[in-house]
This record gives sequence, C-alpha cells and structure tokens, in this order.
Amino acid sequence: MTAVPDDDHGGDVEIVRLGRHRDDGDDDDGDLDRDDELLAAFHAGPYLDAFAHQREPLAVWQRRLRDPDAPYQLTVQIAGRALRDPSRRVLHGGVAYEWYPRSGCGLATYLVVTSPWRGRGLGRRLLTGAVDDLRARGAGRADGGDGAPVFGEIADPSAPGPGEDAAAAAARLARFRRWGARVVDAPYAQPSLGPGLARDRHLRLLALAGTAPAPATIAGPRLAAFVRELFVANEGAPPDDELEALLAAIPATVVTR
Ligand SMILES: CC(C)(COP(=O)(O)OP(=O)(O)OC[C@H]1O[C@@H](n2cnc3c(N)ncnc32)[C@H](O)[C@@H]1OP(=O)(O)O)[C@@H](O)C(=O)NCCC(=O)NCCS
Repeated sequence: MTAVPDDDHGGDVEIVRLGRHRDDGDDDDGDLDRDDELLAAFHAGPYLDAFAHQREPLAVWQRRLRDPDAPYQLTVQIAGRALRDPSRRVLHGGVAYEWYPRSGCGLATYLVVTSPWRGRGLGRRLLTGAVDDLRARGAGRADGGDGAPVFGEIADPSAPGPGEDAAAAAARLARFRRWGARVVDAPYAQPSLGPGLARDRHLRLLALAGTAPAPATIAGPRLAAFVRELFVANEGAPPDDELEALLAAIPATVVTR
C-alpha cells in the first residue's frame, strides 16, 4: 500500500463489485468465494485504516454478501490495480453501501481512498457509482423508485458527539456538499450496530447525489419507513419508545438543505 501514483487521473483503475442481489439478476455470487481474499485485504487495509473506530467485523460483511434473504443487501466495490493478484495488488480504496428493499432506500456506509490516491476524483467517482447503483435498484417501483433516496450519515458539526472534532465534521460536511449532498431536515439516530453498542444520536442523514442531483424533498412516510427498516434490520428488535418518538417527529414532507 506504499505504491507511488504513476499517473494523475486514476481513470484506468480496476473496480470489482461484490454483492449478491436476487432482484437485479446479477450473478456476482460465483465471484464471492474467489474474491473472499480480496475482500479480506480491503477490510484489513484501507477499511480499518480509515474506520478503526467502527470496526464492522469482516465476518458480518461476508455473511451479508452471501445471504440473499438478509434484511438489507450489502455491496462492496473495491478499486485498485491487479486486484485479483495478491502478489501485485495495489488497493486504491472502496465503497460499501446497502439497499433496503422494503422502503426502497439506499444507504452509503463507508467510502475510503488511500492517501497516495486521493485528490484525483476516485472518491467522488466511487460514491457517484454507488448512488447510481442504488437508485437503479429502485427504478420501476410503484412508490416512485426513480427517486429512490440514497442516504449517508455524517457527524453533526453543530452537535458533535464525545470525542468528535467539530471542525473536522464541518470540513467533511462541506466536502459532501461540494459533491451535491443535502442535509435531511428531520431527526435521526443511528441504530446500535452490534450487541452492547449504543445508538449514535450525534449524526445527521445526508441525501446523496449520484449522476442525478440529490432530492430537494423526501416524503415523510418514505423516510420513516427507511429509518424503521434500518433499525429493525440492524438491531433485530421491534421499535421501542425512543424510535417511535423519532418516527413520529418526521414531518409529512421532509426538506433537504
Ligand atoms: C473522503 C475521501 C474518500 C475522498 O477521496 P478522494 O479520492 O480524494 O476524493 P476526490 O479526489 O474525488 O475528491 C477530493 C478532492 O480532489 C479534487 N479532485 C478531483 N479530481 C482531481 C484531480 N484530477 N486533480 C486534482 N484534484 C482533484 C476534487 O475536486 C475534490 O475536491 P473537493 O474536496 O473540493 O470536492 C478520502 O479523503 C478518504 O478516504 N478519507 C478518509 C475516510 C473518509 O473520511 N471517508 C468519508 C466519510 S465516510
């Protein structure tokens, strides 16, 4: 991972997409065993380097990628050179994202580009591709799939959590805004992501832009359905009073700013 960039555009980067999606007819399943080693290398390297504090276990990704009946569909895209050749491989980064089929909404969870490869457009390209992929899964849905909202989570610069740097959070938000993201003007909390882990009440939802712009409004019931689905899928328990109160506070039409 110490390779020095030998070009200034990143245009010929190879991108491998890992995921198994019953309803989009792709057959990535056959690649999963072969690409397990690649996934492990991405997880141990770029992912943990950037997200050491989150540490979603590799086993969770492996299970989600294989299970067609999982409550949400995980996709991981990995970018680099010689990706399937461990002896020559150079990892440039990747993006992970989830499709929530009941509400018809997407969530981009992790985006990382390793430092030698930053500032050449790869991060934005990976995120745009993820949003477009998720939007395409919503196309044709009766509930307005063309506009399937794709969300991201971001630390709230105006209410930073413990240990969170407000200036860094503001800079991160500013970058996502330059990439077309809009802040969702509704209350939000992140579900507990594992046994013993607390909910995170210092995050905001972003509506992300793909090739098409981020939506200026989102139907409140759609957002509520997504948040409910996200909590049930991640916590594996029915909504409690805190979640019901949060859902009740979502307005009929949610504005993004
Ligand atoms: C955030 C992150 C993914 C960005 O990756 P990246 O590949 O550097 O992103 P890009 O190159 O697309 O964009 C970065 C900047 O480089 C600029 N850029 C894009 N192409 C460029 C080029 N050819 N030459 C010079 N600059 C370029 C972009 O305009 C962008 O500027 P902006 O911040 O003003 O929008 C990367 O910094 C990272 O992994 N950070 C740590 C993890 C993290 O914070 N992830 C996001 C939160 S989940």
